[in-house]
Amino acid sequence: MAEGLREIVEGRSRLLVPEASLVSDVPPKQPAFYNPAARVSRDVSVLAYNAYITTQDMRERSFADALAGIGARALRVAVEVKGMDEVYINDVNPIAVEIAREASILNGVERLCRFSVDTAYRFLMEHSSRGSRFGMVDIDPFGTPAPYVDCALRAIVDGGMLSMTATDTPVLYGIYPRIALRRYHGRSMRCEYANEVGLRLLLGMLSMVASRLEMGVEPLFVQSTRHYMRVYARVRVGPRYADEMPARLGYVYHCSACANRFTAGMDEQQVVECSICNGRLGRAGPLWIDRMMDAGFVDLMNRVIGDDAYSLSLDKRALDIVRMAKEESREEDALYYTVDEITSMLRVRPPTTASILDALRGSGFRACRTCLSPRGFRTDASIDEICRIVRALVDGC
Ligand SMILES: C[S@@+](CC[C@H](N)C(=O)[O-])C[C@H]1O[C@@H](n2cnc3c(N)ncnc32)[C@H](O)[C@@H]1O
Ligand SMILES: [Zn+2]
Repeated sequence: MAEGLREIVEGRSRLLVPEASLVSDVPPKQPAFYNPAARVSRDVSVLAYNAYITTQDMRERSFADALAGIGARALRVAVEVKGMDEVYINDVNPIAVEIAREASILNGVERLCRFSVDTAYRFLMEHSSRGSRFGMVDIDPFGTPAPYVDCALRAIVDGGMLSMTATDTPVLYGIYPRIALRRYHGRSMRCEYANEVGLRLLLGMLSMVASRLEMGVEPLFVQSTRHYMRVYARVRVGPRYADEMPARLGYVYHCSACANRFTAGMDEQQVVECSICNGRLGRAGPLWIDRMMDAGFVDLMNRVIGDDAYSLSLDKRALDIVRMAKEESREEDALYYTVDEITSMLRVRPPTTASILDALRGSGFRACRTCLSPRGFRTDASIDEICRIVRALVDGC
């Protein structure tokens, strides 16, 4: 093993990682990058790729990590995803690729893996013609994935899957809305559910690029933390899929006075005034306003958890995210609320999330938790109905 490397186990895979990345708060980029904190994201992706490979769409059983670093995600796919034929590991940093190659031997998957040192753009473009495309592509850059989306979409077979990470969270969470406009073709917005707006911007940009390339995308799963957000989407090739994209784009409207929120399509007339309190509405977008998760796909991910081999080797936080998404993927009312924003607006002590969900359901509304926020919930009740129900709940305590 080269000097300065340590062997660790993540999931059921053995990884060689730079020692410095295990001790510093911010993992160093040199000599090669490994982020131990992204383990949960990789655990979730092991579930997602295992789920996807069982679908009929998955005729091409290849996976490409175009910015693979030391291969943490790609090696885990080679070791932990059943039925892969080929795993491509590419990075512009030759040291990172050499470390990945060494670790592939440790795991006995070197015959499955194809290594290359190149820019992600060139690597993906070389795989963008018929017969050389991938079944699944992952884009995991430092910062925004926006520059890579065109090449990634071109390198995926019809019915394949694209997953990508964004770590430019201040941009997507509304601190820099103008940068969001140029990167994601839509404005971000500061609000309690800014990560949902960010995910919708990411999906919106993906769908806009796809339709320009005569393709369509179908979101399958989304995940976010304070530091990153990830989306998984099925890619469909052909103008009829591209034609479906514009109707799924629109805006998020938010009233910071009364916390009212709603989405509206691109063709609908702009709303300026809140219908509940007459306050002035903020607006984010254009962005994706359709479903962000596919219930059938989330069921498949949960079925993978049912296999002990996975549930025992994966971080509990990853399992909790995927379990919680099960109900949410069926009930997905855009946009979520948080207990704390409602109770601080009402100036009351926060009841438990569970009791609020029960009270909403008891009043005939749909209600469920969201995996996007620990104290978040989705409901079809309007903000004034939510406030009335929460106030009655607190008064009755
Ligand atoms: C966030 S890391 C990838 C982490 C990895 N996917 C994982 O799960 O551990 C980003 C990687 O992108 C590589 N990189 C940066 N710019 C690149 C480019 N234009 N083409 C290919 N790789 C690039 C860096 O060397 C780095 O290893
Ligand atoms: Zn209002």
